[in-house]
Amino acid sequence: MAKVFITRHIPEIGIEKLKNSGLDLVYIGDRQLSKKELIEKLKEHNPDALVCLLTDTIDKEVLSSAPNLKICSTYSVGFGHIDLKAAEELGIVVTHTPGVLTETVAEHTAGLICAATQRIVEADKFTRAGKYTGWEPELLLGLDLKGKTLGVLGAGRIGTRVAEIMHHGFSMRIIYHDVAENNYLHDVVDADFYPELEKMLPNVDVLTVHVPLLPSTIHLLDKKKLLMLKKGAVFVNTSRGKVVVESDLVDVLESGHLFAVALDVYEFEPEITKKLLELPNTVLTPHIASASKETRDKMAEMVADNIIAFFKGESPKNQVKFS
Ligand code: GLV
Repeated sequence: MAKVFITRHIPEIGIEKLKNSGLDLVYIGDRQLSKKELIEKLKEHNPDALVCLLTDTIDKEVLSSAPNLKICSTYSVGFGHIDLKAAEELGIVVTHTPGVLTETVAEHTAGLICAATQRIVEADKFTRAGKYTGWEPELLLGLDLKGKTLGVLGAGRIGTRVAEIMHHGFSMRIIYHDVAENNYLHDVVDADFYPELEKMLPNVDVLTVHVPLLPSTIHLLDKKKLLMLKKGAVFVNTSRGKVVVESDLVDVLESGHLFAVALDVYEFEPEITKKLLELPNTVLTPHIASASKETRDKMAEMVADNIIAFFKGESPKNQVKFS
């Protein structure tokens, strides 16, 4: 019977599916394991399948510590935490959970854009602090979105859905940068493509980031690029924290160049640059953009389905391609 190792408990629906398919669940963690602990436990259990999270570092050392390992199924759409080259060398199949979390992340992104431009978090704190003493003509003035330009950095599934929501729901003009043109975005929201990021940034009122973490996207946004955004722009990131140099983002925000920043991901998460916590014009969520009950359940089912298919001798639907 194939042995499955789950680094940390995922929604029960996925666990049940794995159990009901006759697989042997040899370990289900109840907390984040350090890399050292993970290696020790993998050596102890020598599983055939590994279910991991985006918070686990799955490098060559980890993958080699379970000689029987044949499949690594991550409970995330992003797979920047997995060394794909090592997996390929070791003959380990990698799967992820694309598609099911697109809508949830896009809705959270829209929520962050609204919270940042309408100063909702700041206003909530103000009200709770008992500071609301009466209507005022210039109290907590925010920004309108209608007619403003949304810059989408990364026009994959999530970026495309954010563009649709913000165009159809809020009448924003859409421009985007990616490595390739997205004809759907052009047809559906009349978006303009910018092959060069530097040429797009000066036109952006709200920048929303949706690129995967790749060697080419690590620190893609630094001070120089952030300062290219329009003065008074809003910066939103629900992709990966390492795409932005967080200290540069803080500097640019503090300089007054940006109106607000809304983040769900952080360069050194779960650590967050202290200044971000202190400044009033930041909206900060704890990497929960995909965290709806429905979506997290679907992700757990997908993780299980991929492993079950693999051990039936089929090819898992959501296999990551090694390039
Ligand atoms: C979330 O960030 C994911 O990659 O699933």
